[in-house]
Amino acid sequence: MRLDRFLANLPHCSHRQARLLLASGRTSVNGATVYDGTQDVRVFDRIELDGQLLQAGKPARFFMLNKPAGCVSATADPRNSTVLDLLHEPDKEELHIAGRLDFNTTGLMIITNDGLWSRRLTQPQSLLGKTYLVETEAPIDPNCVDRFAQGLYFRFENLTTLPAELELLGSHQARLTLHEGRYHQVKRMFGHFNNKVTALHRERMGPLLLDDTLAHGHYRSLTTEEIKQI
Ligand code: URA
Repeated sequence: MRLDRFLANLPHCSHRQARLLLASGRTSVNGATVYDGTQDVRVFDRIELDGQLLQAGKPARFFMLNKPAGCVSATADPRNSTVLDLLHEPDKEELHIAGRLDFNTTGLMIITNDGLWSRRLTQPQSLLGKTYLVETEAPIDPNCVDRFAQGLYFRFENLTTLPAELELLGSHQARLTLHEGRYHQVKRMFGHFNNKVTALHRERMGPLLLDDTLAHGHYRSLTTEEIKQI
């Protein structure tokens, strides 16, 4: 919400009074005087008027979780346990998942209450790479490297996938980096070559790398540096 609207929503403050308060430098956001009423303020901002607190500002929260297999990446599910069940945090209903994984996929999952931040991480335009370790039932056809780099046609969506980088690690194992997130994308790309994905693990989302000291089902807060990278 714009700061001038925030002020005008206060009891006994008209739009005109809000403009005057701003022009006279009596309002501060996160400790800095703000004159520009068009500036956006969020629930995470601390807003003061003449040094009196108007809004304390909720803490923004960011977690990285090593998702175990057999758990749903949703905030609620009638049958199965969810990734949120693994978090021992207050006010969990305020949290959301940035970039889902399938039921049996393991690895990096980001959970936060900051929607603007998570949008930067997941919006398609950002083209941030997501890297997966893949294990397959049959040996991986080496032609996959070029074909994934060229893009594969997905008939259902009538689109060609963006160039993806495949690094072969063994006959049945590879590291794949995608720059988009289509439904079951990794499984469908290997399915194109009649090869079934038997294990899938997300290692990285953009600059955020899964902390390898986190056991399956464990989580930690992101560091200030990690948060700033998005
Ligand atoms: N691609 C898949 O097929 N499954 C996932 O969980 C993530 C990417």
